[in-house]
Amino acid sequence: MEFVIGLMSGTSRDGVDAVLIKTDGLSLVTPIAFQFEPYPDYLRSAIADACDVAMSCTQRQTHPIIEHCEQSLSERHLTVTHALLKKAGVLASEISLIGLHGHTIAHRADLGWTWQIGKAEFLANQLDIPVMSNMRQYDVMYGGQGAPLIPVFHRALFADTSQPVAVLNLGGVANLTFIGRDGALAAFDCGMANALIDDWMSRKTNYPYDEGGDFAATGVVDATALGNMLEHPFFSASFPKSLDRKDFNLDFVEGLSAGDGAATLTAFSARAVAIGLRQLPAKPKRLIVCGGGRKNRTMIRMIEQYCEIPAVMTDDLGWDGDAIEAQGFAYLAYRCLHGLPITYPGTTGVPEPMSGGVLTRPEKTVMQEVPA
Ligand SMILES: Nc1ncnc2c1ncn2[C@@H]1O[C@H](COP(=O)(O)OP(=O)(O)O)[C@@H](O)[C@H]1O
Ligand SMILES: [Mg+2]
Repeated sequence: MEFVIGLMSGTSRDGVDAVLIKTDGLSLVTPIAFQFEPYPDYLRSAIADACDVAMSCTQRQTHPIIEHCEQSLSERHLTVTHALLKKAGVLASEISLIGLHGHTIAHRADLGWTWQIGKAEFLANQLDIPVMSNMRQYDVMYGGQGAPLIPVFHRALFADTSQPVAVLNLGGVANLTFIGRDGALAAFDCGMANALIDDWMSRKTNYPYDEGGDFAATGVVDATALGNMLEHPFFSASFPKSLDRKDFNLDFVEGLSAGDGAATLTAFSARAVAIGLRQLPAKPKRLIVCGGGRKNRTMIRMIEQYCEIPAVMTDDLGWDGDAIEAQGFAYLAYRCLHGLPITYPGTTGVPEPMSGGVLTRPEKTVMQEVPA
């Protein structure tokens, strides 16, 4: 097993998750350390601006707003990696690879492109460690959704669990992984989890998110607004499918009180999970939940109510639910380095199992070979 770092900057824009794991890229994964660095306000709004610019582009292109944001973000990546190494008591020279997810500023899989920012070359050269980045790119180029990428990691973690089982990641966006009795994977983004709730809280309260879901618990779900939001064709579409955080907005809850809006958006996230579960190949025996949204008690209560399935937190199975996605990108990066598949027809809709990533060695960039 080798030391691999994972750096995840999730769509919720809360900050960077940095992890150190030991892995063989197959079934062995040992978590070593986890470090979270919240974004300062200026960076959060720089990312929002970069997303606005990127979504108005028709492909990746240079732009001063994006360039400025990417540099600030990459400096965060560097400081969090130093803090992580210090916490773990491990030297940079002992690390085999960094898996850099970067921040998604536009995800347009339907148009054949996806864009994650984060300077691999800067990190590789500053730390003298090879960096694997752009892990969604080949998948999208070959007709896949480019998301979710994490299912193969979920299978590595929960292969021993009684199957079929589903893993639900409640990040900015929600995604579901189904692991069948034979280990076959099915996966897709199933809706929003926290992104809209965070936007609403920032706009209506002095808080960036709904701590514990306590604010949503004070409101009443508005059935009309919820019904309108669920009319979106995304929900009836069969998978593979994936989302950009801008695919939904706050228009339908605009006229509601702050509490009712929070309750309605929370119900929207929970109902999306229930719809997603019904689209899986079979009913899972249980739902394993990770991501920041698992700490939203109102959301979890609604999910259990709408889905009629017991939810268990990854933490209760020995895996820190805040660290799993970053651990996943460390694991995926290591698999890319060894040419192992990271996406499958059942997870992103790519025609055949596919590896990917762009490997940046200190001072040198080499495109990974992808099996034909
Ligand atoms: N204590 C909490 N109570 C409710 N929601 C929380 C709590 N802590 C974090 N969250 C939610 O989780 C989000 C971050 O989850 P995360 O899994 O990091 O998503 P992403 O990968 O998209 O960044 C925050 O934006 C917030 O909405
Ligand atoms: Mg996050």
